[in-house]
Amino acid sequence: NFTRANFSKIFKRCLTTATVDNGKRLAAWKAVDDLILPQQHRVIGLGSGSTIEHALQRIASRQELRSLIYVSTSFQTRQLILQNKLKLGTLEECPNGVDLTIDGADEVDQDLSAIKGGGGCLFQERLVAQASQDFYLIADERKKSTSLGTKYTRGIPVEVIPMALSSIQRILMTMHPEGSIQLRMANPSDKAGPVVTDNGNLLLDCQVGPLGDTAAAVYQDIKRLTGVVEVGLFCGMAKKAYFGNNDGTVDIWT
Ligand code: 5RP
Repeated sequence: NFTRANFSKIFKRCLTTATVDNGKRLAAWKAVDDLILPQQHRVIGLGSGSTIEHALQRIASRQELRSLIYVSTSFQTRQLILQNKLKLGTLEECPNGVDLTIDGADEVDQDLSAIKGGGGCLFQERLVAQASQDFYLIADERKKSTSLGTKYTRGIPVEVIPMALSSIQRILMTMHPEGSIQLRMANPSDKAGPVVTDNGNLLLDCQVGPLGDTAAAVYQDIKRLTGVVEVGLFCGMAKKAYFGNNDGTVDIWT
Protein backbone atom coordinates (compact mmCIF):
# COMPACT_ATOMS: atom_id res chain seq x y z
CA ASN A 1 0.00 0.00 0.00
CA PHE A 2 1.17 3.41 -0.98
CA THR A 3 1.45 5.26 2.36
CA ARG A 4 3.68 8.29 2.93
CA ALA A 5 6.06 6.13 5.05
CA ASN A 6 6.34 3.50 2.31
CA PHE A 7 6.92 6.14 -0.33
CA SER A 8 9.73 7.66 1.73
CA LYS A 9 11.31 4.21 2.25
CA ILE A 10 11.16 3.40 -1.49
CA PHE A 11 12.51 6.87 -2.37
CA LYS A 12 15.47 6.44 0.03
CA ARG A 13 16.22 2.99 -1.38
CA CYS A 14 16.21 4.34 -4.97
CA LEU A 15 18.50 7.18 -3.91
CA THR A 16 20.96 4.75 -2.26
CA THR A 17 20.95 2.48 -5.33
CA ALA A 18 21.62 5.48 -7.59
CA THR A 19 24.45 6.71 -5.34
CA VAL A 20 26.08 3.29 -5.17
CA ASP A 21 25.78 2.86 -8.92
CA ASN A 22 27.34 6.28 -9.44
CA GLY A 23 30.27 5.22 -7.21
CA LYS A 24 30.76 2.11 -9.35
CA ARG A 25 30.67 4.20 -12.53
CA LEU A 26 33.18 6.74 -11.18
CA ALA A 27 35.67 4.05 -10.17
CA ALA A 28 35.24 2.14 -13.44
CA TRP A 29 35.62 5.16 -15.74
CA LYS A 30 38.64 6.50 -13.86
CA ALA A 31 40.37 3.10 -13.92
CA VAL A 32 39.73 2.63 -17.65
CA ASP A 33 40.99 6.14 -18.43
CA ASP A 34 44.07 5.85 -16.17
CA LEU A 35 45.12 2.30 -16.91
CA ILE A 36 44.34 1.23 -20.48
CA LEU A 37 46.92 2.78 -22.79
CA PRO A 38 46.20 1.81 -26.41
CA GLN A 39 49.78 2.60 -27.52
CA GLN A 40 51.14 0.16 -24.94
CA HIS A 41 48.46 -2.47 -24.35
CA ARG A 42 46.88 -5.00 -26.67
CA VAL A 43 45.11 -7.59 -24.50
CA ILE A 44 42.86 -6.53 -21.61
CA GLY A 45 41.21 -8.85 -19.08
CA LEU A 46 37.77 -7.89 -17.85
CA GLY A 47 36.31 -9.18 -14.59
CA SER A 48 32.62 -9.67 -13.89
CA GLY A 49 29.79 -7.90 -12.12
CA SER A 50 27.90 -4.63 -12.22
CA THR A 51 30.99 -2.40 -11.77
CA ILE A 52 32.63 -4.06 -14.76
CA GLU A 53 29.54 -3.24 -16.83
CA HIS A 54 30.43 0.43 -16.31
CA ALA A 55 34.03 -0.25 -17.37
CA LEU A 56 32.75 -1.90 -20.54
CA GLN A 57 30.49 1.07 -21.31
CA ARG A 58 33.46 3.39 -20.98
CA ILE A 59 35.69 1.19 -23.15
CA ALA A 60 32.99 0.92 -25.82
CA SER A 61 32.59 4.71 -25.88
CA ARG A 62 36.28 5.35 -26.56
CA GLN A 63 37.10 4.66 -30.21
CA GLU A 64 40.83 4.14 -29.60
CA LEU A 65 40.09 1.32 -27.11
CA ARG A 66 37.79 -0.55 -29.50
CA SER A 67 40.66 -2.14 -31.44
CA LEU A 68 42.12 -3.92 -28.38
CA ILE A 69 41.37 -7.56 -27.50
CA TYR A 70 39.23 -8.27 -24.43
CA VAL A 71 39.42 -11.52 -22.46
CA SER A 72 36.30 -12.30 -20.43
CA THR A 73 36.00 -13.97 -17.02
CA SER A 74 32.35 -15.09 -17.24
CA PHE A 75 29.44 -15.72 -19.56
CA GLN A 76 28.04 -12.31 -18.53
CA THR A 77 31.20 -10.41 -19.52
CA ARG A 78 31.58 -12.41 -22.73
CA GLN A 79 28.05 -11.39 -23.75
CA LEU A 80 28.75 -7.74 -22.92
CA ILE A 81 31.96 -7.75 -24.96
CA LEU A 82 30.06 -9.19 -27.93
CA GLN A 83 27.03 -6.89 -27.52
CA ASN A 84 29.35 -3.87 -27.54
CA LYS A 85 31.01 -5.24 -30.71
CA LEU A 86 34.43 -5.35 -29.08
CA LYS A 87 37.05 -7.96 -29.96
CA LEU A 88 36.70 -11.06 -27.80
CA GLY A 89 39.84 -13.08 -27.11
CA THR A 90 40.56 -16.18 -25.04
CA LEU A 91 43.63 -17.06 -23.01
CA GLU A 92 44.51 -19.74 -25.59
CA GLU A 93 44.45 -17.15 -28.36
CA CYS A 94 46.70 -14.80 -26.39
CA PRO A 95 49.80 -16.92 -25.63
CA ASN A 96 51.77 -13.87 -24.49
CA GLY A 97 49.28 -13.33 -21.69
CA VAL A 98 47.14 -10.38 -20.74
CA ASP A 99 48.59 -6.88 -20.37
CA LEU A 100 46.30 -5.89 -17.55
CA THR A 101 43.02 -6.93 -15.96
CA ILE A 102 40.39 -4.75 -14.32
CA ASP A 103 37.95 -6.51 -12.01
CA GLY A 104 35.30 -5.77 -9.39
CA ALA A 105 35.42 -6.87 -5.76
CA ASP A 106 33.07 -7.59 -2.88
CA GLU A 107 35.42 -6.25 -0.19
CA VAL A 108 38.97 -4.85 -0.27
CA ASP A 109 41.33 -4.23 2.63
CA GLN A 110 44.25 -1.82 2.89
CA ASP A 111 46.74 -4.49 1.72
CA LEU A 112 44.60 -4.74 -1.45
CA SER A 113 43.51 -8.26 -0.50
CA ALA A 114 39.96 -8.85 -1.65
CA ILE A 115 36.95 -11.10 -1.29
CA LYS A 116 35.62 -11.91 -4.75
CA GLY A 117 33.05 -14.30 -6.13
CA GLY A 118 29.83 -12.66 -5.00
CA GLY A 119 28.73 -13.19 -8.60
CA GLY A 120 30.17 -16.70 -8.66
CA CYS A 121 32.86 -16.04 -11.29
CA LEU A 122 35.91 -16.45 -9.05
CA PHE A 123 37.63 -19.27 -10.95
CA GLN A 124 37.80 -17.58 -14.34
CA GLU A 125 38.51 -14.25 -12.66
CA ARG A 126 41.53 -15.73 -10.94
CA LEU A 127 42.66 -17.56 -14.06
CA VAL A 128 42.68 -14.35 -16.09
CA ALA A 129 44.24 -12.35 -13.21
CA GLN A 130 47.00 -14.94 -12.97
CA ALA A 131 47.73 -14.57 -16.71
CA SER A 132 47.90 -10.78 -16.39
CA GLN A 133 50.90 -8.58 -16.02
CA ASP A 134 48.93 -6.24 -13.74
CA PHE A 135 45.65 -6.64 -11.88
CA TYR A 136 43.45 -3.77 -10.68
CA LEU A 137 40.25 -3.61 -8.64
CA ILE A 138 37.30 -1.22 -8.99
CA ALA A 139 34.43 -0.78 -6.55
CA ASP A 140 32.12 1.68 -4.86
CA GLU A 141 33.14 3.01 -1.45
CA ARG A 142 31.05 0.49 0.52
CA LYS A 143 33.66 -2.17 -0.33
CA LYS A 144 36.53 -0.49 1.57
CA SER A 145 37.44 -2.55 4.59
CA THR A 146 39.84 -2.71 7.51
CA SER A 147 39.43 -6.49 7.84
CA LEU A 148 38.00 -8.82 5.19
CA GLY A 149 34.80 -10.47 6.35
CA THR A 150 33.39 -7.39 8.09
CA LYS A 151 31.71 -5.72 5.08
CA TYR A 152 30.85 -8.64 2.82
CA THR A 153 29.33 -10.91 5.44
CA ARG A 154 27.80 -13.50 3.10
CA GLY A 155 31.03 -15.49 3.47
CA ILE A 156 34.08 -16.44 1.43
CA PRO A 157 32.90 -17.96 -1.87
CA VAL A 158 34.37 -21.41 -2.50
CA GLU A 159 33.75 -23.15 -5.84
CA VAL A 160 33.58 -26.93 -5.52
CA ILE A 161 33.18 -29.89 -7.89
CA PRO A 162 29.58 -31.17 -7.37
CA MET A 163 30.60 -34.68 -6.31
CA ALA A 164 32.82 -33.20 -3.57
CA LEU A 165 30.12 -30.92 -2.14
CA SER A 166 29.08 -32.70 1.06
CA SER A 167 32.59 -33.87 1.85
CA ILE A 168 34.08 -30.38 1.45
CA GLN A 169 31.20 -28.86 3.44
CA ARG A 170 31.88 -31.26 6.30
CA ILE A 171 35.64 -30.59 6.26
CA LEU A 172 35.09 -26.81 6.20
CA MET A 173 32.69 -27.11 9.14
CA THR A 174 35.38 -29.00 11.07
CA MET A 175 38.00 -26.41 10.13
CA HIS A 176 35.70 -23.53 11.16
CA PRO A 177 33.38 -24.89 13.89
CA GLU A 178 32.17 -21.38 14.80
CA GLY A 179 31.39 -20.56 11.16
CA SER A 180 28.54 -21.28 8.78
CA ILE A 181 29.11 -23.05 5.47
CA GLN A 182 26.12 -22.70 3.13
CA LEU A 183 25.45 -23.99 -0.36
CA ARG A 184 24.57 -20.96 -2.50
CA MET A 185 21.01 -21.28 -3.77
CA ALA A 186 19.59 -19.53 -6.83
CA ASN A 187 16.71 -18.23 -4.74
CA PRO A 188 16.75 -19.34 -1.08
CA SER A 189 13.10 -18.44 -0.45
CA ASP A 190 11.47 -20.68 -3.04
CA LYS A 191 13.89 -23.59 -2.65
CA ALA A 192 14.99 -23.30 -6.28
CA GLY A 193 18.12 -25.28 -7.13
CA PRO A 194 21.66 -24.27 -6.30
CA VAL A 195 23.65 -21.68 -8.22
CA VAL A 196 25.70 -23.47 -10.88
CA THR A 197 28.87 -21.66 -11.95
CA ASP A 198 29.95 -21.05 -15.56
CA ASN A 199 32.19 -24.12 -15.07
CA GLY A 200 29.33 -26.40 -13.97
CA ASN A 201 30.33 -26.35 -10.30
CA LEU A 202 28.64 -25.36 -7.01
CA LEU A 203 29.41 -22.61 -4.50
CA LEU A 204 29.81 -22.77 -0.75
CA ASP A 205 29.66 -19.45 1.11
CA CYS A 206 31.90 -19.74 4.18
CA GLN A 207 31.18 -17.26 6.96
CA VAL A 208 34.16 -17.49 9.23
CA GLY A 209 34.20 -14.00 10.74
CA PRO A 210 36.76 -11.21 10.27
CA LEU A 211 39.96 -12.48 8.65
CA GLY A 212 42.39 -9.75 9.74
CA ASP A 213 45.85 -10.77 8.59
CA THR A 214 44.91 -14.45 8.17
CA ALA A 215 43.33 -14.10 4.71
CA ALA A 216 46.28 -15.60 2.79
CA ALA A 217 46.54 -18.53 5.22
CA VAL A 218 42.78 -19.19 5.06
CA TYR A 219 43.05 -19.16 1.25
CA GLN A 220 45.82 -21.79 1.33
CA ASP A 221 44.01 -24.01 3.88
CA ILE A 222 40.83 -24.17 1.79
CA LYS A 223 42.47 -24.23 -1.65
CA ARG A 224 44.53 -27.32 -0.90
CA LEU A 225 41.43 -29.52 -0.36
CA THR A 226 40.81 -31.88 -3.27
CA GLY A 227 37.46 -30.96 -4.81
CA VAL A 228 37.91 -27.24 -4.24
CA VAL A 229 38.29 -25.49 -7.59
CA GLU A 230 38.93 -21.97 -6.32
CA VAL A 231 38.55 -19.75 -3.27
CA GLY A 232 37.33 -16.14 -3.47
CA LEU A 233 40.24 -14.62 -1.56
CA PHE A 234 42.59 -12.63 -3.77
CA CYS A 235 45.64 -11.76 -1.67
CA GLY A 236 48.82 -10.14 -2.98
CA MET A 237 47.39 -9.80 -6.49
CA ALA A 238 46.04 -6.28 -7.01
CA LYS A 239 48.38 -3.41 -7.77
CA LYS A 240 45.79 -0.66 -7.14
CA ALA A 241 42.14 -0.38 -6.13
CA TYR A 242 39.84 2.41 -7.34
CA PHE A 243 36.85 3.35 -5.17
CA GLY A 244 34.08 5.68 -6.30
CA ASN A 245 32.84 7.74 -3.34
CA ASN A 246 29.38 9.15 -2.61
CA ASP A 247 30.77 12.69 -2.82
CA GLY A 248 31.77 12.19 -6.47
CA THR A 249 35.50 11.68 -5.84
CA VAL A 250 37.59 8.57 -6.50
CA ASP A 251 40.08 7.13 -4.01
CA ILE A 252 43.00 5.11 -5.32
CA TRP A 253 44.62 2.66 -2.92
CA THR A 254 48.08 1.36 -3.79
C1 5RP B 1 32.00 -11.86 -9.37
C2 5RP B 1 32.83 -10.88 -8.63
C3 5RP B 1 32.47 -9.45 -8.76
O1 5RP B 1 33.54 -8.75 -9.27
C4 5RP B 1 32.08 -8.93 -7.40
O2 5RP B 1 31.02 -9.72 -6.90
C5 5RP B 1 31.65 -7.46 -7.45
O3 5RP B 1 30.45 -7.33 -8.15
P1 5RP B 1 29.74 -5.91 -8.35
O4 5RP B 1 30.63 -5.08 -9.19
O5 5RP B 1 28.43 -6.26 -9.03
O6 5RP B 1 29.52 -5.32 -6.98
O7 5RP B 1 33.77 -11.20 -7.96
O8 5RP B 1 32.41 -13.16 -9.11
